[in-house]
Amino acid sequence: MIRRAVAALFCLMAASSCAGPGDTPGDAPTLSGDPPVVIAHRGASGLLPEHTLEAYTLAVQQGADFIEPDLVMTRDGVLIARHDRHLSTSTDVSDRPEFADRRREQDLNGEPRTDWWAEDFTLAEIKTLRARQPYAGRSTDYDDQFEIPTLQQVVDLAITSGVGLYPETKSPSHHTAIGLDMKAPLLEAMEGLMVPVYIQSFEAQILRDLNQMTGFPLVQLYSGDPQAAAAGFEPPLDEVGAYADGVGPSKHLLWTAPGTPSDFVQRAHAFGLVVHPWTVRDDNVGDGFERVEDELAALYAQGVDGVFADFPETALEVRKAD
Ligand code: G3P
Ligand code: CA
Repeated sequence: MIRRAVAALFCLMAASSCAGPGDTPGDAPTLSGDPPVVIAHRGASGLLPEHTLEAYTLAVQQGADFIEPDLVMTRDGVLIARHDRHLSTSTDVSDRPEFADRRREQDLNGEPRTDWWAEDFTLAEIKTLRARQPYAGRSTDYDDQFEIPTLQQVVDLAITSGVGLYPETKSPSHHTAIGLDMKAPLLEAMEGLMVPVYIQSFEAQILRDLNQMTGFPLVQLYSGDPQAAAAGFEPPLDEVGAYADGVGPSKHLLWTAPGTPSDFVQRAHAFGLVVHPWTVRDDNVGDGFERVEDELAALYAQGVDGVFADFPETALEVRKAD
């Protein structure tokens, strides 16, 4: 409630730059009137294996405003930077005979999956693994070289470089169910952090909990999956302002048809919520655009407050040209 009141006040103070529900989408402003931020999605993950210090560092060198670590937990309760709880797609674990017996089946988003799971490994064991490129078609030149970083290491990089930090708690309810709490170690690692921060999740409950525990800005992610809405993970926009400061929609939610904006940005802005859509990829252009530069320019023209980009350098170039 306090968050929503602050956002509304902010919107009043910057009335000339707040899009209202009746405004026409086009060259719309961001909520604050500032240029949109560029969030290096999993680091400069289009060029280097994702969620490595090397990929984050490259993003910093390119000038990204934020680096984005996705977070899962180890058996001994340490937050590490991985997109998935399963390890086979982004590490060399399948080639490590000493871990062969760790492979097991469990449910992943309602489907059985046989894999190696971060929650079955200690941090010391995770540190013996090396990162791999999970996306077909991207360079594998740097496979099996880089370590899996902890959140603390990413925080330290943010502090030394001054880049913003945008961590995402992955599957918090699953971690809670197996006795692993993400909130305390997250806030402990980020205590006193002075760089710009957003904390994001697809699950509303952890954001509601964090809203009681921290003043860091919070972002509710939206996949647009009706099952996620039905499960209460992704509440309607009008409920989000009670506990969060922004929303991170899948970019397809910003279009009703190729070239035709939806009213998502306008509605979110009307609730005082910043909008950070994901994910813009040079090598997988979306929503009917032929060139990623056109896709980015069209998103900026909608007044998005930032973009998650696998190739942050491109998002920065298009922002500069705008
Ligand atoms: O966090 C924004 C975006 O990254 C959400 O999708 O699956 O890439 O974490 P995902
Ligand atoms: Ca993410």
